[in-house]
Amino acid sequence: MSHVELKNIRKAYGSHVALKDVSLNIDSGAFFTLLGPSGCGKTTLLRAIAGFHQQDAGEILLAGQSIGHLGANKRNVGMVFQDFAVFPHLSVFDNVAFGLVQQKVPAAEIRQRVQAILTTVQLAENADRMPHQLSGGQQQRVGLARAMVIRPKVLLMDEPLSNLDAKLRVELRRDIRSLQQAFGITTVYVTHDQEEALSVSDQVCVMHDGIVQQVGSPWDVYNRPANRFVATFVGSNNFIPLTAAGAGQPGLLGQPLVVPPAVRQRQAGAVVASIRPEKITVNEPLAGDGVRVGAVVRQAMFTGRELQLTVEVTGHGLLDVLTQPNAAMIALKPGDALALAIRTEDLLYFAPGETGAMLQ
Ligand SMILES: Nc1ncnc2c1ncn2[C@@H]1O[C@H](COP(=O)(O)OP(=O)(O)OP(=O)(O)O)[C@@H](O)[C@H]1O
Ligand SMILES: [Mg+2]
Repeated sequence: MSHVELKNIRKAYGSHVALKDVSLNIDSGAFFTLLGPSGCGKTTLLRAIAGFHQQDAGEILLAGQSIGHLGANKRNVGMVFQDFAVFPHLSVFDNVAFGLVQQKVPAAEIRQRVQAILTTVQLAENADRMPHQLSGGQQQRVGLARAMVIRPKVLLMDEPLSNLDAKLRVELRRDIRSLQQAFGITTVYVTHDQEEALSVSDQVCVMHDGIVQQVGSPWDVYNRPANRFVATFVGSNNFIPLTAAGAGQPGLLGQPLVVPPAVRQRQAGAVVASIRPEKITVNEPLAGDGVRVGAVVRQAMFTGRELQLTVEVTGHGLLDVLTQPNAAMIALKPGDALALAIRTEDLLYFAPGETGAMLQ
């Protein structure tokens, strides 16, 4: 039995339908992430689970029980927002103890539970400090500890890291994930940062325009995207229309290509192939079936970890390529010629259109 079940949830604001028939099953103890662009309905869905607003249609079940009739304070659901809303007039200890005091937990147990969680978030030394004496990241950890210490049946988090700088975000997402695993709390997490979603989640739900596009493991949504929207939104991708390459044979970038029969069976007409930038190799022989094609560098950007190239294949437009920043690659400059190799096994095929289905 799923811990949280959403059945055919619909929610409109006036004439704008923000959620269109959303159904999801979230397993007990899972870290489940809603991922999608701004305005796709993530917060609207989270607020419906929390009970902050009522859906227009559909049902929400928690551990098999319908909670639709319960108010927000009766659902035993914890919610963490962007700013974590730490109480400025309470010490770190009292901030974390707040929910337990409200639940009338005995004082000795409160002390023990608060100290334990403060140790986990590395704030045991700071229990007596006031929030203004803490760094931004430490304040977020107080908020996190406060939400988790009450052991809610479900923890809902709406972009909790979006106000932090890049380094702190990475640090805190590790803390969130390890706390969630230590406590086994079923967590529904909202982000529009695809790297964050992939790195922390057991399951990722990609949304677009109020509709669930795909639910799957981080590996699946990255490597087996259900449609072109997911393939575009999660990571980056090159999309290349298949055209004829002489004698009516299908071709990629002007080179003949064997399209898997399963793809042809599903789609007789136009097909778009996709290739991840990191799967294109530069100035190396083709390893296996595929195409090898000449290109010209248009832009080269060194990011430290990798070299991002924008290259042009004459007559076919621009492609993004990611390579190791070795000495030969770093020397590349706009106008330089190179040879690209694309292996057939790294290609995915999609029906045309923004949400064209994956065809394998
Ligand atoms: N109170 C409201 N009244 C009218 N329209 C609303 C209201 N709240 C949200 N919307 C609209 O519903 C849609 C979904 O909004 P929602 O806040 O759920 O998006 P989101 O995915 O959380 O986006 P973001 O990443 O920007 O937070 C948007 O088009 C938004 O403009
Ligand atoms: Mg939102």
